[in-house]
Amino acid sequence: SNHHQILEKLGLQAVNPGACFGPGQWSEVRQDHLIESFNPTTGQVIARVSGATEAEYEKVLRTAQEAAEAWKMVPAPVRGDAVRRITQALRDYKDPLGSLVSMEMGKIKAEGDGEVQEMIDIGDFAVGQSRMMYGKTMHSERPGHRMYEQWHPLGVVGVVTAFNFPVAVWAWNALLAAVCGNATIWKPSPKGALCCAAVQNIANEALAGTDVPPIFTSFMEPGHELAEKFVDDERVALMSFTGSCQIGRQVGERVARRMGKSLLELGGNNAIIIDETADLKLAIPAVVFGAVGTAGQRCTTTRRLFIHESIADQVIETLVKAYGQVRIGDPLDPNTLMGPLTDEAAVQRFEQAVARAKEAGGEVLTGGERIEGDGYFVKPAIIRAENHWDIVQEETFAPILYVMTFKTLDEAMAMHNDVKQGLSSSIFTTDVRNAEYFLSHRGSDCGIANVNIGTSGAEIGGAFGGEKETGGGRESGSDAWQAYMRRQTNTINWSTELPLAQGIKFDL
Ligand code: UN1
Repeated sequence: SNHHQILEKLGLQAVNPGACFGPGQWSEVRQDHLIESFNPTTGQVIARVSGATEAEYEKVLRTAQEAAEAWKMVPAPVRGDAVRRITQALRDYKDPLGSLVSMEMGKIKAEGDGEVQEMIDIGDFAVGQSRMMYGKTMHSERPGHRMYEQWHPLGVVGVVTAFNFPVAVWAWNALLAAVCGNATIWKPSPKGALCCAAVQNIANEALAGTDVPPIFTSFMEPGHELAEKFVDDERVALMSFTGSCQIGRQVGERVARRMGKSLLELGGNNAIIIDETADLKLAIPAVVFGAVGTAGQRCTTTRRLFIHESIADQVIETLVKAYGQVRIGDPLDPNTLMGPLTDEAAVQRFEQAVARAKEAGGEVLTGGERIEGDGYFVKPAIIRAENHWDIVQEETFAPILYVMTFKTLDEAMAMHNDVKQGLSSSIFTTDVRNAEYFLSHRGSDCGIANVNIGTSGAEIGGAFGGEKETGGGRESGSDAWQAYMRRQTNTINWSTELPLAQGIKFDL
């Protein structure tokens, strides 16, 4: 079948080993401790992957430590060449890998391919970055002195990824970490086990026959025992975690306890403001893509909508109509716009959220029910709500859009910022004052703030991440590479005197 062809093209057998120690070095296949990869479109098992043992975890750690030692001595632009190879391989495998993402995760094929494109984009970015890891120079207050800063590798970087972006998040972290001179260990969500194995295979193949040490390794497990060990492991200098605010808080606390570094990409509660001057030709499709795309399972998904009261009825009517045209079904079918949720539990959380919103007084304007039959399909919901309701304050990882109205931008801005999360935000306006207000320090408190473009689908060139309970981490573009390095400040005295800073005299 089509599914088997996808797996075959990516070198995935029916039972896959669950730890990789580098090119050609997978762990033994074991029948116990199996991870079952489900197709959320059918609810059927696609394949089984054996989880790593503790001994295998140790081997992954030691492999990565040794690789990091060797890799840090390779000049950064030469490291860039290894990433260039991987990026080229990802171009070659874009179609089957995009299909696997679509099949295992449930996002539509165009979005699966788009996710692989994000990997390629960050790879290209990282190759360029490998020649641009600039430090600043400072003017010393002392005569005959020079000051500068430089960036050194960290060592071993841990990357824990979520089910919803099963391949791109690894690339944002691992490819930048690689040019920065680190070795990366990847622990994927068990729901993305096949995606992890496929990407690991691609990286292995791209680096086979080179003298690049095993800087990309991974391990998987059905539960989270090894993941906890991983988070607490002092050998892991930086732990990059993508997931819920709740688990992210635990990760942050545990890594801080051992004085490690963490990079947290946690939940969002992203909103769009549509003011009375907005161009609705742009606003409506942006809201629909933001709220319904990836079946509401992006951390950047549009969850709240604030509409100026003068145009609210018209906007809501158009949105409800647009929702009626969203084709829901097999994500690999090119006509589909929305695939399934990830599993039965996600469908239940969706139903519970809709029920709680109704209890609070919410009016369901469209959707909100499970679609009976195979797989985990739901009808995306638009609910008239109030911002302060508990359920509106929470991130439900499903296609639910809470709609609210406002009179003044001050009022909209206050509601907009009145949530615990701070990831992505947008305003649709043609009024330059409203746009600038939104982007100012009086405006959106999020890590991402957009004008006339939706909350999701950020390009890799900017720093990606958010404030407050979103965790404060930044990945991808801009200067996010610095998170994967340690900064060293250097002062060099080229004079024949030893003057002290701050004018201190200390004569012997
Ligand atoms: C995520 O959902 O974890 O901005 C990341 C976006 C994508 C990344 C989403 N580039 O929607």
